[in-house]
Amino acid sequence: MELRERLQGQRTPTSNEPQAPLDGFAELKDRVHLAVISDLGPRLYNESLSQQALRDVVLADIRNRLAQERGIAIADRDRLVQEIADDTLGHGPIEPLLQDDDVSEVMVNGHADVWVERAGTLHKTAVRFSDEHHLRRIINKIVAQVGRRVDESSPLVDARLPDGSRVNAVLPPLSLTGPLLTIRKFAKSRWDLNGLVAMGTMPAEAKEFLELCIEAQLNILISGGTGSGKTTLLNALSTAIPQSDRIITIEDAAELRLHQTHVLRLEARPKNVEGQGEIPIRELVRNSLRMRPDRIIVGEVRGSEALDMLQAMNTGHDGSLSTCHANAPRDALSRLESMVLMAGVDFPLRAVRQQVSRALDLVVQIERFSDGSRKLTCITEVERMEGETVTLQDIFEYKFDRTHEHGGSLAYTGLRPSCNKFERRGLTLPRWMDQHKFAGAAPMAAAAARNPRIEAHGRRFGR
Ligand SMILES: Nc1ncnc2c1ncn2[C@@H]1O[C@H](COP(=O)(O)OP(=O)(O)O)[C@@H](O)[C@H]1O
Ligand SMILES: [Mg+2]
Repeated sequence: MELRERLQGQRTPTSNEPQAPLDGFAELKDRVHLAVISDLGPRLYNESLSQQALRDVVLADIRNRLAQERGIAIADRDRLVQEIADDTLGHGPIEPLLQDDDVSEVMVNGHADVWVERAGTLHKTAVRFSDEHHLRRIINKIVAQVGRRVDESSPLVDARLPDGSRVNAVLPPLSLTGPLLTIRKFAKSRWDLNGLVAMGTMPAEAKEFLELCIEAQLNILISGGTGSGKTTLLNALSTAIPQSDRIITIEDAAELRLHQTHVLRLEARPKNVEGQGEIPIRELVRNSLRMRPDRIIVGEVRGSEALDMLQAMNTGHDGSLSTCHANAPRDALSRLESMVLMAGVDFPLRAVRQQVSRALDLVVQIERFSDGSRKLTCITEVERMEGETVTLQDIFEYKFDRTHEHGGSLAYTGLRPSCNKFERRGLTLPRWMDQHKFAGAAPMAAAAARNPRIEAHGRRFGR
């Protein structure tokens, strides 16, 4: 069977071809709800309007529209007005999940299967939408507030809501199991570095060292898997940037919340419905160089923008930060290399590698553990090229230890960072780095004796 036939065969009914709905008024509710939200659009989120005033506007609009429909009993009419208003003003059955501060993510896998993430782990809920139409209505309501719409002609939407949450929706026929909705809520209590230490994401020494690295304007890449806490860590690290710096943030969907006064926030623009008007991250990175930044923060590097970011780092924009999807510091560097090659440059690989090693000073690896916690597993310094490879040196490394409460911890390896930016900026490393029991005449050899993955000259193997 051809893929197209399979898709058509399994295709869940769409609003144009309704399946016998649970509620005889499903089609009507659908239509009126859609008309009301397109009428009111962003006004539904206008904060200057009180809840009561907004409700009155919505109720009046629904009554007007229902008055034009024939053959509805008065009792049904009243019920319909209330139900459509609830769906319009709130988010239907997922409203309590969105209000619950312990829930970080809401995942709707079709109308009768709703999951949440609490404290990093997934839980199935008893929440259901009455049918597929109902779910579609709520999805449209959610995306209408940012002027978007999902239907058969544009079945894929990724958007950021005014409160900072991120929404992704996929409709049939792209989804084979009904409409899918994923909402990553914006964490109201912003986690700062102290919060991450308290949660066990990193020990206090690592925090102290990272703060110093930010002050010394090291170029830092945070590496980790999806949902491992990269953006959260980037937000937290940014609190260590001095108030006097002019910072430009560049993101796909603005998730960063910097508290400094001099922050310029740029957000890439996706293609419009006609497939035009796209402004990719890369163009924003290039443009940001003409805006006299002290630091450039790229939310996540995924593609050709890596080239421009590395060039920026190499041409005096020290102290830049970014994140990248990779499972280990060395993988992160190879991913950057491939991204630069994707940008269409015809440099030899060695030159690209050289550029990566010159631009980056530090890679911070974060991982999601099976208990849902997030922890730093390496703080690795990017050194120079030796032959064909970039030398990496772990300053901190995660040590598994069954006697430890969390099964292990991030520990200082005893290797002193070789980056001269600390000295150049008149900063001294914490005393515990000097006094570490393995520091002294031959710190590398000592660390190598303790950790077989580090060779005496500091290169690391085994990952
Ligand atoms: N340090 C942490 N400890 C526990 N949970 C975290 C931590 N950082 C992030 N999370 C959880 O993980 C979710 C995803 O975090 P995020 O920083 O957006 O990940 P990424 O950018 O790697 O995809 C957050 O909504 C939050 O619930
Ligand atoms: Mg992220």
